[in-house]
Amino acid sequence: MSELVIETKGLTKEFGSLTAVKDLNLKVKKGALYGFLGANGAGKSTTIRMLLDLVKPTRGNAYLFNKDIRYHRKEILRKVGAMVESPSYYENLTAYENLEIIRRILKLERKEIDKALEIVNLSKWKDKRVKTFSLGMKQRLGIAQALMGDRELLILDEPTNGLDPAGVREIRNLIISLPEITGATVLISSHILSEIELIADHVGIIHNGKLLFQGTLEELKEMGNREIAIKAQPLLEAEKFLRNKGYDVEMREGRLYITAERINIEEVNREMVLEGFGVSHLSENKKKLEEVFLQMTGGIEG
Ligand SMILES: Nc1ncnc2c1ncn2[C@@H]1O[C@H](COP(=O)(O)OP(=O)(O)OP(=O)(O)O)[C@@H](O)[C@H]1O
Ligand SMILES: [Mg+2]
Repeated sequence: MSELVIETKGLTKEFGSLTAVKDLNLKVKKGALYGFLGANGAGKSTTIRMLLDLVKPTRGNAYLFNKDIRYHRKEILRKVGAMVESPSYYENLTAYENLEIIRRILKLERKEIDKALEIVNLSKWKDKRVKTFSLGMKQRLGIAQALMGDRELLILDEPTNGLDPAGVREIRNLIISLPEITGATVLISSHILSEIELIADHVGIIHNGKLLFQGTLEELKEMGNREIAIKAQPLLEAEKFLRNKGYDVEMREGRLYITAERINIEEVNREMVLEGFGVSHLSENKKKLEEVFLQMTGGIEG
């Protein structure tokens, strides 16, 4: 049995007639690097705000460390570091001074600042004013702020938003390293599938406020249809044969492709060989996660 760090039950938020988050049952296991994926407006930030008690749910409950955030706010939030939407800092202060403010509020030791700066690779720039920072450096400072204090859960809402490819990569590598360096469970939201694919081990897909999928990245890849590529002689007869067998067949560039939710590749091979076809190639195409995702959501733009 694995421990849940975040669990929501029927979590719902309505803004007037708009249901931004609908009956959400999130389960984030201890130690997970959980990718919370959804298009713009899907309900990611609203969910995260409810987890942090920044917004009250219309219905349902959010439990962090098995305790309802509504009744144990202070105790829970001591263990949670978060960055929602964009980091907040004082532009005219240095990186170090910004962290010093948090250190005093949380009554931490000085070395916590150095540790956080080191993790996000800002030690060299700690005495520079934040207004001279690049967007990526500001984002890293935001993560350093979230890391201050011994956090058991880190919630980062779209931490790579607005960064250039190099910046995205830097933040991505930083996030991947966080569970090991900090020992914390990490939830990161993003609207970019490829990013979640590179970072996360567990995935929750939110679409129009509803959770469409939750599980491991591996389980997500197993969803949807499989595709088998076949090279056989004579090709046209083979196509007809497979079609008559009830397979969904497509011919492209001298190959046959069959797709189905469940295909037994050995069975297909056996049937064709018994029928006298020369089968020179038979393989399962790795389905792109993007296809699974599009199949699931009917396109990212809601
Ligand atoms: N305070 C609010 N009042 C009214 N509607 C809101 C409010 N906050 C969010 N919404 C709406 O709720 C829906 C979900 O918004 P939310 O910010 O949670 O989405 P998101 O997944 O974080 O999107 P993005 O990728 O753009 O950050 C959107 O339709 C948004 O317009
Ligand atoms: Mg958002």
